[in-house]
Amino acid sequence: SAASPSFSSSETQSALELAAHELVQNLRPVAFPTETVYGLGALALDASATSKIFSTKGRPADNPLIVHVSSFPMLQTLLPPEYILPATYTALIKHFWPGPLTLLFPCDPNTIPPIVTAGQPTVAIRMPSHPVARALIAVSNTPLAAPSANSSGKPSPTKAEHVYADLNGKISLILDGGACDVGLESTVVDGLQADGEIRVLRPGGVTVEDIERVLQLELESIPKVLVHKRDYRDEVLEAAPTTPGMKYRHYSPAVPVNLLCTLSTPPTDIKPVNFVSYLESLKTEGRATLKIGILSPTDSPLGKYSLPIDGFEWLRFPLGPSADPAKSAHLLFDGLLTLERQGADMILIEEIREEREGLAFMNRVRKAAGECVWLQVHG
Ligand code: TXA
Ligand code: MG
Repeated sequence: SAASPSFSSSETQSALELAAHELVQNLRPVAFPTETVYGLGALALDASATSKIFSTKGRPADNPLIVHVSSFPMLQTLLPPEYILPATYTALIKHFWPGPLTLLFPCDPNTIPPIVTAGQPTVAIRMPSHPVARALIAVSNTPLAAPSANSSGKPSPTKAEHVYADLNGKISLILDGGACDVGLESTVVDGLQADGEIRVLRPGGVTVEDIERVLQLELESIPKVLVHKRDYRDEVLEAAPTTPGMKYRHYSPAVPVNLLCTLSTPPTDIKPVNFVSYLESLKTEGRATLKIGILSPTDSPLGKYSLPIDGFEWLRFPLGPSADPAKSAHLLFDGLLTLERQGADMILIEEIREEREGLAFMNRVRKAAGECVWLQVHG
């Protein structure tokens, strides 16, 4: 991408070889850039290598990993023999691979260690478009299992320095490819169900609108696209609730994050509050100033309030114009991590429309936010 630092090809080549050596010979995880977020990769076909991903991230063993491939022949080696792609997948692959789309496939347990799939009968696979990701997989000459390169529960890293700040001391190598273009994780799609419908298990870099457009363009009988606003992990927790109070949080920095609703209709029992009274309610006795981080679109309703207000220090992180949800998606995790590093006591995120990239944006924000506050918005 344009934002990437440039390296000479020999520097790039030796960095890739070093990383591939760490992966293949030492069986140790390596952080690398993809077009979505930075990944923490390990050899997908080696159970002991992939187990180090879980221990490094503190990731629960029941959350399966995505397997990354660099070519179609490599994809073939992962699929059951004689497996034929459904027409929906052929269409989606034609338009979105390489790119931020992950597809579920039937898992061949003789090929893929159960630790990767958390024992699921399916395996999630994607072909990233980032040249460094593709080259690393190709040089390693084997598929890489890779979750986002962050401690479990934290925002996903979109820059090499985010990975460094989080995992320094736990991993030996980060390939720096600059800022990730998309900034949110891939869209996870299940098209394997008998009803032929497409289930979006996690909204992400490829929008639901684009998936629908491609299916209409390519297929005679057009499947329904169902969007699950929660992801696989939430469903596992709902099916088998663990200890109370162990509510699963995701994408959260160390400071509290609240969602400010300025677009959606509040539930009938909730009365929207005035922004200034809400801020006053946050003040704690004995604290001189509260540092409030605000993530909001540049043209947002919150801009109408005359800031600063006594007793508050503002850390603003603009998310681009509200008409450009791709930009907001690109900046969300960077914004959370930047405001945390700048010492915010609390982070407030303003709601955006759940259209196009806004759907994935709001999915991540809902998981990060401890509380939802409805604001009175005038005008
Ligand atoms: O963009 C991305 O997808 C990034 C980069 C590094 O490629 N990776 C990523 O991985 O976001 P991770 O581990 O943070 O998210 C994997 C998602 C989870 O929501 C997981 O539950 C889902 O994929 N997943 C993986 N295998 C699955 C399966 N067999 N069935 C259902 N969901 C699955
Ligand atoms: Mg993740």
